[in-house]
Amino acid sequence: MASVHHGVVYTKKWVVNLILDVAGYVPGTGISDKVIVEPSCGCGAFLTVIAARLADDAIAVGKGWTSLGNAIRAYDIDSASVETARKAAAESLMKRGCPAIQARELCEQWIVHGDFILDDVPAADFIVGNPPYVRATEIDRGKRALYVKRLSSVTTGCDLYVSFFDRGLDALRDGGTLCFICADRWVPLLDSAGVEAAGVSEVRSHDVTMSVAAGDAPMFPDDVKERFARTDFILDMYESGVYNREEAGEKLFDHLFGKGRAVMDSEG
Ligand SMILES: C[S@@+](CC[C@H](N)C(=O)[O-])C[C@H]1O[C@@H](n2cnc3c(N)ncnc32)[C@H](O)[C@@H]1O
Repeated sequence: MASVHHGVVYTKKWVVNLILDVAGYVPGTGISDKVIVEPSCGCGAFLTVIAARLADDAIAVGKGWTSLGNAIRAYDIDSASVETARKAAAESLMKRGCPAIQARELCEQWIVHGDFILDDVPAADFIVGNPPYVRATEIDRGKRALYVKRLSSVTTGCDLYVSFFDRGLDALRDGGTLCFICADRWVPLLDSAGVEAAGVSEVRSHDVTMSVAAGDAPMFPDDVKERFARTDFILDMYESGVYNREEAGEKLFDHLFGKGRAVMDSEG
């Protein structure tokens, strides 16, 4: 990941694959009948993989390209990023046999130049991504006021990521999955911000991936870095195929929370 400005941090492909696996956005499971939302798509790190998985699922069940217009919705406030993301996602579709014109049309429909907090968002089965992390003082004052007005858990002092969790949980269908990258030590801040407790157990599993990416960042104290080192190891094992998804998930939960997924689940 390379950190730039105003919350722009692009996600590595293996992290994207891990998040989509954990969320259950997997071809062969009927995902072409579902709606997935990527709230801040940047240059399309998630969308290229999402488009490929969606295409694989549609091909397997014989669904035509034109039926996929509502299967994905993505946003970004940066118009240049939106254009890049559209091209990248279209490439993914074309690699799977989608004609260029249809691929372009689908991606224009899917990927919107807009503000995830303020625009209309469809009811979603999956919401995945790497939201922008921007301190309250760096958010445009006019926008900040609109976000506060729009969202129940957001105050003028909140980092922008809190708005993304709140809006995301709000757009989620019953039984849907929200999976965002978030540093684990920020998760308690969501609680104190009053973001719906019902979504927090899902949110907690997502902070795992951000921990890995941010492991060397100086903003984290040594004891936190030690935890990242172990997390790195587990994810390396997953990436290289030594651990399957379930094993890696159990080990990450055990490591980060001191108990297994089954226990977390039973706690609701
Ligand atoms: C951390 S980057 C993630 C990009 C991409 N999802 C990835 O994982 O590579 C965050 C993105 O959020 C976008 N962004 C910031 N505020 C936004 C908003 N209110 N609505 C939609 N996108 C926003 C930025 O332009 C940036 O591209």
